[in-house]
Amino acid sequence: MSRKGVRPLETGRRKGSDPVWHDVECGRYAADLPLWAELAGAVGGRVLDVGAGAGRVALRLAAAGHDVTALDRDAGLLAVLRARANAAGLRVDTVVADAAGFGAGEARFGLVAVPMQTIQLLPGADACAAFFASARRAVVPGGLVALAIAEELESFEDEGVIPLPDVAERDGWRYVSQPTAVRELPDGTRIERLRHTISPGGERTSEEDVIVLARVTVAGLHAEAAAAGLQPEATRHIDPTDDHVGSEVVVLRG
Ligand SMILES: C[S@@+](CC[C@H](N)C(=O)[O-])C[C@H]1O[C@@H](n2cnc3c(N)ncnc32)[C@H](O)[C@@H]1O
Repeated sequence: MSRKGVRPLETGRRKGSDPVWHDVECGRYAADLPLWAELAGAVGGRVLDVGAGAGRVALRLAAAGHDVTALDRDAGLLAVLRARANAAGLRVDTVVADAAGFGAGEARFGLVAVPMQTIQLLPGADACAAFFASARRAVVPGGLVALAIAEELESFEDEGVIPLPDVAERDGWRYVSQPTAVRELPDGTRIERLRHTISPGGERTSEEDVIVLARVTVAGLHAEAAAAGLQPEATRHIDPTDDHVGSEVVVLRG
């Protein structure tokens, strides 16, 4: 999640999202990539990237020689992922499915990875339990399920320092994603952004984007995972960067 207010795409108002915002707001994040590569290499076998988006993690692991399946509920993002894989001469299988209860068919995975706080986008405890049950079925015996979470987010509202926006330029169009508030809710954190699109001629359109990240803890996830038969391993930590919050990575053994 971007430190600047954050992640794209989960407004609950749109079915699919313009992939450009995915790239603007989280495409440049790289601090977690060595850990996903390490975990994938440690267990071997196929990798299931849950909430894969446009393939930031999946493409990197495929390029490192892993067999990767990318799962996301957003078919548009997976289409972008496939185009990028093709352009790079990589193969990544894609599955449009809900992380809150998916079937893996016959496939079994050495690593089920859930990067970038995607688990916190699931709507409540039942959805989380459904994810763990699915992950338990999908992972090979002795394989790993790993989830990156942010336990605490620094909130700001009308006062305080407004973070710098995420900015990108493509074909003369400029995209500016400005965090405007991070608000604490009883069960989560509401992250608000204004997304500005500026045409080559200077015309600007703006839209609001809101996501809510559920509040989770390492201990709480360990308990929920244990109920599905996944055993806790040592939690890993990813330091914050200038642009992104740090993460705890909950690691579970199947
Ligand atoms: C912040 S993005 C992370 C994308 C990618 N994993 C990365 O690290 O760059 C969250 C992704 O999770 C997907 N997502 C959110 N809720 C989901 C759900 N219930 N089932 C499947 N995918 C979901 C979104 O479509 C989006 O691609």
